[in-house]
Amino acid sequence: MSASTPYTKINQELLLQIKAVVGAENVFTEQAILEDYNHDETEDLRYNPEVVVKPVDTAAVSALLRLCNENHVPVTPRGGGTGLSGAALPVFGGVLLSMERFKSIISIDMDNLQATLEPGVITEEFMNAVAEKGLLYPVDPSSKGSCFIGGNVAHGSGGPRVVKYGTIREYILNLEVVLPTGEIIWTGANTLKYASGYNLTQLMIGSEGTLGVVTKIVTKLIPRPQLSVVMLGSFLENEQACAAVSAIFRAGVIPSALEFMERRGVEWVIRFDNIKFDLKDDIQAFLMIEFDGNDMDVLLRDCERVNEVLEQFGCTEVLLADTAQQKEDLWRMRRTMAESVKSNSVYKEEDTVVPRAALPQLINGIKEIGSRYGFESVCYGHAGDGNLHINIIKAGMSDEDWKNKLKDGIRELFQLTADLGGTISGEHGIGLVQKEFMSIKYSEINLNLMRGIKMVFDPNRIMNPGKIF
Ligand code: LAC
Ligand code: ZN
Repeated sequence: MSASTPYTKINQELLLQIKAVVGAENVFTEQAILEDYNHDETEDLRYNPEVVVKPVDTAAVSALLRLCNENHVPVTPRGGGTGLSGAALPVFGGVLLSMERFKSIISIDMDNLQATLEPGVITEEFMNAVAEKGLLYPVDPSSKGSCFIGGNVAHGSGGPRVVKYGTIREYILNLEVVLPTGEIIWTGANTLKYASGYNLTQLMIGSEGTLGVVTKIVTKLIPRPQLSVVMLGSFLENEQACAAVSAIFRAGVIPSALEFMERRGVEWVIRFDNIKFDLKDDIQAFLMIEFDGNDMDVLLRDCERVNEVLEQFGCTEVLLADTAQQKEDLWRMRRTMAESVKSNSVYKEEDTVVPRAALPQLINGIKEIGSRYGFESVCYGHAGDGNLHINIIKAGMSDEDWKNKLKDGIRELFQLTADLGGTISGEHGIGLVQKEFMSIKYSEINLNLMRGIKMVFDPNRIMNPGKIF
């Protein structure tokens, strides 16, 4: 064991053993490859693994975990590397376990509307495969073109359509999991109901690779709605746009997406992605609202109701997108926002979520805290879920303040979120970068329950150590 960590460094002998159990052609130690896998999409953080392993099947994952467990070698599972909380960063070195070879959609069961697939399938590819059969898998984070469904499971992912369809938690029925001991289990049953003891499937979802490695996934599918319309409402003030959100539901409609975008996010995405969009001078915020279904008259009636609500909240203009191109353009603008913010400035990204009626207090509080600490912020996100992504922009803050003082500001943001009845991440997870804030939301009693669960699964703490708590 090394002096600085409780973990064993991978020496030549261990490396040979790893190669023996997963196949030498699936083991990589070249510096360039270690660097490819030393980061995800979280800020600019980088941690080199000692070795990158790309197993090809469950048996190889099992043999690898058994070996690492016996030798106290840390294992960091990784999906598409699109995470925003640093959960895939190998902070203690060790094995970086890439699931990129688990690419098979094993079956789409049309009798039961279920699919079985491997965790390395790209989310959008899975969505397209089921769409060809007239079905919908609705959990589509903005990174859907590059994230893996296994990473989505690990984070309890959401995305824009949660407001109508729910998070990935509503779609995962059963998981094949390799435990740190190398034992292989199925967590539940391929059924729509489950009242058979503790729900290990739900426990694995959102556990960020700290309990075991998911090697097969059974999802629920639903019939695919044929039609959709998208509206874009413009507002003079953030607060009014946020206040309109809960009123939309009180008017008796459920949109299939309800997204908030602050002006600066739209400005940056226009520049970043060369988008044609007439951004009026006095507009501070937008709500993007989608309805889907199978009857255009119903969808347009829902739009009409929303229109009336938006007017009451000072909405100055509503665009209705009904052609495929118009809808695609608006969605591209929304989905590219994270990337455009990242390309624009040094930033930190927080993923606050509150009960939706508290959104006006949240947005005002964010700005007030920012003005006290000297940071600016660009907010956007899934307003229908009360979920705002806060991008904290360095702006005029000194390097010294950015490094030392900002933490207190973030602490205040999370305290506000908790005081409003919310929590510190809605969909990006805790990973590495939010773990120091867990105690704002959770008592020692809660945290000890979580630690206890961890110890039952992984007493040697080899699975993704240094994450969540
Ligand atoms: C989004 C990602 C950042 O909503 O969650 O664009
Ligand atoms: Zn999001």
